[in-house]
Amino acid sequence: MKYQIGIFDSGIGGVSVLKELIKVIPDSNIFYLSDSKNCPYGDKSKEVVTEIVFQNVEFLRSLGCPLIVIACNTATATAINQLRKTYPDTIFIGTEPAIKMVYDSCSDKESLLLATKLTLDCERVQGLMQKYPISHLKTYACSGLADLIEEKNQQGIQEYFQQHFTPYQQVDSVILGCTHYPLIKKELQNFFSHATIFDGSLGIAKETKRKLELLNLPKQEGTITFFDTSKEKKKEEIFKFYLQS
Ligand code: DGL
Repeated sequence: MKYQIGIFDSGIGGVSVLKELIKVIPDSNIFYLSDSKNCPYGDKSKEVVTEIVFQNVEFLRSLGCPLIVIACNTATATAINQLRKTYPDTIFIGTEPAIKMVYDSCSDKESLLLATKLTLDCERVQGLMQKYPISHLKTYACSGLADLIEEKNQQGIQEYFQQHFTPYQQVDSVILGCTHYPLIKKELQNFFSHATIFDGSLGIAKETKRKLELLNLPKQEGTITFFDTSKEKKKEEIFKFYLQS
């Protein structure tokens, strides 16, 4: 076994988690799988996403990763329990909306949770909202936003904000419940100018480091290898763009 990590998302959203991983664990070899062929996950059914997620995990396991980061809220909410049961020899780190962070710091303020429809519908996330009740929490299923981020469509993103988020513009906190959204954090912060933006990526990276250290594996040189299920060349360019920005 090697000090190497598998990470996947429906597309390039997981780059928001990858960026934190590189800072926290620079000496691991990382295999990033972008499942662009099946992007977006958020409007698909739980059954379909579960099947897709298992295929991605099989691929990363075949590369010999002892630890897999599910850098996707939708995939985590849908399948992490089943994955842990099916593959007890693999460590899975999931990604979940930072509801607890808001509960701990400002649970009585107006908050808005942005996520995919499937994430919001999943029992796991419903359970988090019950466990950490935030008194004025609104949720919004952002159908189509991840696609605009995948396309780097800046104008489309600004139009999306105007069209969908204007009624919520005065909220105090915004929770980024999809890994694509931290990639446009600056744009979101400009739009929700009064709000504190909550994003759990750093916490995921720290948890990954903690779990890896327990395995006591030999350190690696620190490389990133990119895979994409659609095999479209432009996906790697978009991946690099977000990784460097
Ligand atoms: N990045 C994924 C997440 O965190 C969702 C995007 C999609 O709908 O595929 O939920």
